Amino acid sequence: MKERIHEKFLTLFGEGGMVFASAGRVNLIGEHTDYNGGYVFPGAIDKGIMAEVKLNGTGKVRAFSLDYDEYVEFGLEEDNKPQQAWADYIFGVCRETIKRGGKVEGFDTVFAGDVPLGAGLSSSAALESTFAYAINYLFQNGIDKFELAKIGQSTEHNYCGVKCGIMDQFASCFGKKGNLIRLNCKTLEYKYFPFDPEAAGYKLVLIDSCVKHELASSAYNKRRASCENAAAAMRKYHPDVEFLSDAKRVWLEEVRDEIPEEDFLRAEYVIGEVQRVLDFCDALERGDYETAGEMMYQTHFGMSKLYEVSCEELDFLNKVARKCDVTGSRVMGGGFGGCTINLVKKELYDAFIKEATTSFEEKFGHAPKVYDVVISDGARRVE
Ligand code: GLA
Repeated sequence: MKERIHEKFLTLFGEGGMVFASAGRVNLIGEHTDYNGGYVFPGAIDKGIMAEVKLNGTGKVRAFSLDYDEYVEFGLEEDNKPQQAWADYIFGVCRETIKRGGKVEGFDTVFAGDVPLGAGLSSSAALESTFAYAINYLFQNGIDKFELAKIGQSTEHNYCGVKCGIMDQFASCFGKKGNLIRLNCKTLEYKYFPFDPEAAGYKLVLIDSCVKHELASSAYNKRRASCENAAAAMRKYHPDVEFLSDAKRVWLEEVRDEIPEEDFLRAEYVIGEVQRVLDFCDALERGDYETAGEMMYQTHFGMSKLYEVSCEELDFLNKVARKCDVTGSRVMGGGFGGCTINLVKKELYDAFIKEATTSFEEKFGHAPKVYDVVISDGARRVE
């Protein structure tokens, strides 16, 4: 990928620049908890975005996406927002850096990625983090990594229409090879957990349904609004409920009649999920993968029946996993399509993959994709 980028860079801009990269992510458990101030447990993966970047001495960004085979030029003022969705991410990162007092001037870039798009592996966070890191480096803005992650998140909020939490950008900026990160999304305190499933006799594998349902971002924003509504209802009686993650299950019961049933179910899922992250990490520290895996199934149930962000294809993959005695399996990321993440004993791996791919294809008419997960480094300069 680096060579392809460099070749194009030379063709377009004459002289080479510096290379930066960042990563997509997986999340073991803790879904839709981030914007509720709860815990998440992600890790960066060995699939990401790479960009060659060089200052061009103008007030303009000149960007080429190898994957879209498309060139875009834009200025750095608020009203220069480009038409192309992929360029909006870069534009957003520039604007959010400027808003934080950072210096940004014109630069040239060519970039490419190998994060499967629409699979729920956060290709967008990888793109944002690559450029947040690169710009910070090139202009020596001295912005810390927490703020770089927030630059990516604000880009989603203000330029891409998704009111996402901090998980994806955090994982992408703080990712460390061989480690998962347990992040408290309220305080941003985090802890690395060395994670080596192979050593314990397991494999971590993603099965990509290759479906992406429409309106995912508006449905996502709607889930978030439900959670905020439930938290606000409890706050009337329990002023300490700043986020939904501060609430207790019994407090939710108290306001059951005051909020729509839908909001109740969403909140019920989130309150359970926040606790599950802590229990999952405890189990993992004891080396008890079987208990941890069972919690992944519980998360799937909650995401499917209470939070309603699964779909037929993902529920099907989850059932196949259960049938094949897979230790843990669930829909991963925002939902509405994308992947399941599966923790499976090594000796059951081949049979599971075979059963999942053939039965899925039989039912839905297309084969799912299979990705083995390698936990890797996040945003960085590539020498
Ligand atoms: C998307 C968002 C994240 C998070 C997950 C669900 O990936 O970008 O902030 O909310 O969905 O856990």
